[in-house]
Amino acid sequence: IQAGYKAWLNYKRIEPGESNESPAAWCSRIAVNDKSSSVVMDSAVSELIRGIEAMLGRKPVIVSLEEAAAGEGGYLIIGTWDEGGALLDRTFDGQAHQAIGPEGYAIRTNRAERCIAIGAQTDAGVLYGVFAFLRLFGTGSAMDSLDLTDHPVNSLRMMNQWDNIDGSIERGYAGKSIFYADHEITTDHERVRDYARLLASTGINAIAINNVNVHQFETMFLTDRYLPAIAGLAAIFRAYGIKLFLSINYASPIEIGGLTTADPLDADVRQWWKEKAAEVYAAIPDFGGFLVKADSENRPGPFSYGRDHADGSNMLAEALLPYGGIVIWRCFVYNCKQDWRDRATDRARAAYDHFKPLDGRFMDNVILQVKNGPMDFQVREGVSPLFGAMEKTNLMIEFQITQEYTGQQRHLCYLVPQWKEVLDFETYAQGEGSTVKRVVDGSLYGNRHSGFAAVSNIGSDANWTGHLLAQANLYGYGRLAWNPELPAEQIAEEWIQQVFGACNKKLVQTILGMLMASWSIYESYTSPLGVGWMVNPDHHYGPNVDGYEYSKWGTYHFADLHGIGVDRTMKTGTGYTGQYQGPNVELYESVATCPDELLLFFHHVPYTHVLHSGKTVIQHIYDTHFEGVERAEQLKEAWASLNEGMDPSLFAQVADRLAEQAVHAREWRDIVNTYFYRKSGIPDARGRTIY
Ligand code: GCU
Repeated sequence: IQAGYKAWLNYKRIEPGESNESPAAWCSRIAVNDKSSSVVMDSAVSELIRGIEAMLGRKPVIVSLEEAAAGEGGYLIIGTWDEGGALLDRTFDGQAHQAIGPEGYAIRTNRAERCIAIGAQTDAGVLYGVFAFLRLFGTGSAMDSLDLTDHPVNSLRMMNQWDNIDGSIERGYAGKSIFYADHEITTDHERVRDYARLLASTGINAIAINNVNVHQFETMFLTDRYLPAIAGLAAIFRAYGIKLFLSINYASPIEIGGLTTADPLDADVRQWWKEKAAEVYAAIPDFGGFLVKADSENRPGPFSYGRDHADGSNMLAEALLPYGGIVIWRCFVYNCKQDWRDRATDRARAAYDHFKPLDGRFMDNVILQVKNGPMDFQVREGVSPLFGAMEKTNLMIEFQITQEYTGQQRHLCYLVPQWKEVLDFETYAQGEGSTVKRVVDGSLYGNRHSGFAAVSNIGSDANWTGHLLAQANLYGYGRLAWNPELPAEQIAEEWIQQVFGACNKKLVQTILGMLMASWSIYESYTSPLGVGWMVNPDHHYGPNVDGYEYSKWGTYHFADLHGIGVDRTMKTGTGYTGQYQGPNVELYESVATCPDELLLFFHHVPYTHVLHSGKTVIQHIYDTHFEGVERAEQLKEAWASLNEGMDPSLFAQVADRLAEQAVHAREWRDIVNTYFYRKSGIPDARGRTIY
C-alpha cells in the first residue's frame, strides 16, 4: 500500500502511555448487541476491529455480553438499543436518548460496568459511532471518561462523482476514475469499498456515481447493459450506509427508449419513466434517486418542449415516488451562448431568475441543488441569492471539493473556511438568524429533504487526491455536512492528527497553519477582489486575464484603462443586487458599504478607488500579488521544516506540489500585475518590478 492511501483511516500505532491511559484495557474484547445484525452492523464491527488492531497491535476478540461482563477487565459494547436492554442502560445510565435521532450515536465510558458503550437507534448510527470512537482514540482522547452524543445536522450528505464511463473524470485532478475504465464498470471493488469507508467515516450517506453531464454510454446506465454492475456498486456503498444515486440524461426516453420526444407532459414519456423507475428499483431496492443537469451547458431539458423545470422535475419525481426516491435537480442554468457585447445579460442572475418564479410548484420529493455562488466555484464570489428565496421548495447546497478554480490540487487550498463563510452567510429571509446553513439543513422552512452535495476530488492516484493535503478538503466536507458548526481549524487538526499522528505537536501546528492560510494565499495571487475568472479557457488552470473576456460564457471583468469590475447594481448595472434580501441589498448596492473582497464582483470602479483597507484598487492588486508569491514560498519552507520525522514518501508528495505552486504563483503575479500596469499606466507605489 502506497503512502497516503489509508488517508485519515491510517490508524497509526499508539505506543503505551503515549496519549491514552492503557487503552488496551478497554479494547481487547468487544460485545455486540445481539439483535443488531445487518451489513452495516458487520461493517461497524469490522471497522472497530481493524482500527483497534492497527492502533494497539492486538486484535480484539468478539465475546458475548455475558462473557464480557463476567470476565476480568474492561470491554467495548456496541449495537442498537432496545428498551430496557443492557446496552441502553450502559450507554445512558437511565438518561433520555430519544433526541439523538436515527443517525446519531452515544459513546460513554461506564466505569461501574467496566465498559465503553457505543450505541445508536440504527445500525448506521452505530457505524458513525464506531468511526467517531476510533477518531477520538487516534487523536488522544482519554478513554476512561468518554461521554458524548452526536447526530448529523443535515439529513442528506452527498458526494457527486463527475466520473465518466471511459475512465476520465470531468475536472478530476487525481488520476483516472476508480469506478470506470474502457466503458465498463470496475471490478476492483476493493478500491470502491475503501472509498466507501473513507466517506462513511466522515458521515457521508449518499453518492451519485456518474458525471452530471450524462453522455451516450452513461445514458445506458439505466439499462441491462450496466444496471447489474451498478447494483454491485450499490451493495458496497449500502454496507457503509451510503445510498446510491445516478445522474440521468433528460433525453433518455429518446436515446434509449425509442420515443420521439422527452416532453415531460407527454403521456408516453411519463409512462416510460415509470417503467424505468420500476426496473431500477428491481435491481437496487434502496436506490436513492436521480441527479439531473437539464437545460444547462447544452444538456437537454424541458425547455426544448416549452416546459419549465417544475414540469421536468415533477415528472421524474412522480416516477420515483412509489419507491421513496428523490429527484435532485440542479439550478446551474444560464445562457452559455451569450454575446460579450451584451451588457444587460448577467450570468449571476440566471439561477434566481429561472427558479424563483417556480417556488411552490415542486413536488415534495424534488430537491433543488444550488451551487454556493451564482457563478461557478470561484475563489471568491457572492453567495447565491437563491438560498432563502425559495420558501416552499426543498434546497440543498453544492460545493466543489475538486479544485477546478482553486489550483487544481497542484496548489494548496483548504476550502473549509470558504464553505463556512457561505454557510454562515445571513440571508435575512426570515429576519436575522436566517443563515444559509439553516436553509440547507431544512430548519428555516421546515423541509423534509435538504442537505449538502459536493463534487468529489478523488481519483486513482495512490493518495486519492493527488495533492496529499487536498485530502483535508474531502475529509472536511463530510465533517461539515455532518455539523456545519465545527470550526475549520478543528476539522483540519483532526485530519492532520489522523494522517500524520497526534503526538508531534510541531508538525500538527505547522500543517494546520499552512492549511488555514492557504485559501487567502491562493486568492491573493490570482483574481482580485471577487472579480473571478482570469484563467485559461477550457482547462481553467493558470493565469489568462482576458481568457474569458470576449467569450460566450458570461464571465467578464470589463477592465479598461480607467477601471475594472462588473456593475451588478440596480441603479446602473444588471440589477443582480436586488436578488438579495433585507440589508444585504443595500450592503452590496452601495460602493461605500460593499465589502472589499467582493467589490469587483458587484461594482465597476476606477483603479484609483480607495478600498476600506485604505489602499487603492491598483495598489491592492500589486501588493496582494507580491505578497501572495512570498507566502507561497513560506508554505514551501514551512513544509521543508517537517522533513525530519515524516514518512519520506509523504514528505516528497507535498514538497513537489509546493515547489510547483511557488513557481506558478510567480506566473500569476507577473501576468496579472503586468496586465494591470499596462492597462492603467499607474506604477507600483513601492517600485517593485513589474514587467
Ligand atoms: C463548470 C465546470 C463543468 C461542469 C459544470 C457543472 O462549468 O467547468 O465542467 O460540467 O460546472 O457544474 O455542471
